[in-house]
Amino acid sequence: MAEGFVALTVNGSIQGVWVRESATLLQVLREVLGLTGTKNGCETGQCGSCTIWIDGAPRLACLTPVGLAAGSQITTVEGLGAWWQESHPSSPYHPLQTAFVEFGAVQCGFCTPGMLMAAAALLRDVKFPTVEEIRERLAGHLCRCTGYEQIVRAIREAAVAEVKEL
Ligand code: FES
Ligand code: FES
Repeated sequence: MAEGFVALTVNGSIQGVWVRESATLLQVLREVLGLTGTKNGCETGQCGSCTIWIDGAPRLACLTPVGLAAGSQITTVEGLGAWWQESHPSSPYHPLQTAFVEFGAVQCGFCTPGMLMAAAALLRDVKFPTVEEIRERLAGHLCRCTGYEQIVRAIREAAVAEVKEL
C-alpha cells in the first residue's frame, strides 16, 4: 500500500510522519504518534469519542484522511490544558477537566476526551450555554455510563468557573 510523508502540527509541535495514504488522522494520532487520549469507539463517525480540533473546529478524527489535516493546527485532549493555559497562565487544566472529575462526569472515561473537546469548543463559542445548547452540541457523542446528566452539569459549572478565572 502506498505511503507518503505528512507534516502535522499537533498540540503546537510539528511532527513529520511516514504513513499509509489511506490512513485516518485517528490512526496516525493513536498508532504513530502515541496520542491515545483520542479514543477509537467506532471508526465510523457514530460515537464522537475521536473528536479533536482542526484549526479550532471540532472534527471526527476517524473520518478525517490524514492528508487533509496537513498544514492545519490539530489539538487533541492531551493539548487541551496547554491551550487553556496560554490565556490562563496559572491554570494547567481547562475548567471542564476539573468539573468533569468533580461532578462525576467521568466514569469509564471512554467518551470523555471527545466530550471535553466538544464542550471546550462550545464554551469558547458561547459563554453560558443553555442545557438545550449543550445537549445539541453533544448530540453526536455517546456515553454508556453517565446518563449524560452529570456531563451537562459539569459543563454548566465549568462555564461559571471560566468566568471566575477571567
Ligand atoms: S471513533 Fe470516530 S465517531 Fe466513533
Ligand atoms: S463515561 Fe463511560 S462512556 Fe461515558
